[in-house]
Amino acid sequence: MNIVLCGFMGCGKTSVGKHLAKITGKTLIDTDELIEKEQGISISEIFSKYGEEFFRNLEFEMCKKVSKMDNVIISTGGGAMTFDRNVQALKENCNVIFLDVPFDIICKRIGNGDTRPLFKNKENAKKLYDERKNKYEKVADFTLNGDLSSKKVAKIIAEKFN
Ligand code: S3P
Repeated sequence: MNIVLCGFMGCGKTSVGKHLAKITGKTLIDTDELIEKEQGISISEIFSKYGEEFFRNLEFEMCKKVSKMDNVIISTGGGAMTFDRNVQALKENCNVIFLDVPFDIICKRIGNGDTRPLFKNKENAKKLYDERKNKYEKVADFTLNGDLSSKKVAKIIAEKFN
């Protein structure tokens, strides 16, 4: 069974994923990283050159692709699991974990949001955060307080789902 890590930008999906991969021996897959590799440009450039909808379609294709893999940890982009089509693709073979981190802590972690096109404006980011929170909770098999250290969060997930 695969593990999907979801949650808002800056909630710690990548760092938790790295620890989790070490503990469980599963391979860590990062959907954004794979999209950047395939396209040969950064997520930020994809947004500015081609727009969000173009990115969302790439993201959907990537979710379908990684859902066919086995025994992996999938770190998703912050928006991925807010789209039904991605959830449907990934849910088949995955336990979904929501890393729930308060917005003020996320802000501290992200700083000015240079590399994150949807975090350039803090007010808009807060709106997005409020809109998405319920969605993440709804699709998750398990929600946990991602405000703990990423090592601790990874340990809790591994104990429950490995
Ligand atoms: C997005 C989050 C980003 C990236 C893209 C869109 C979002 O990933 O997929 O900029 O919609 O929240 P991170 O959550 O890794 O920052």
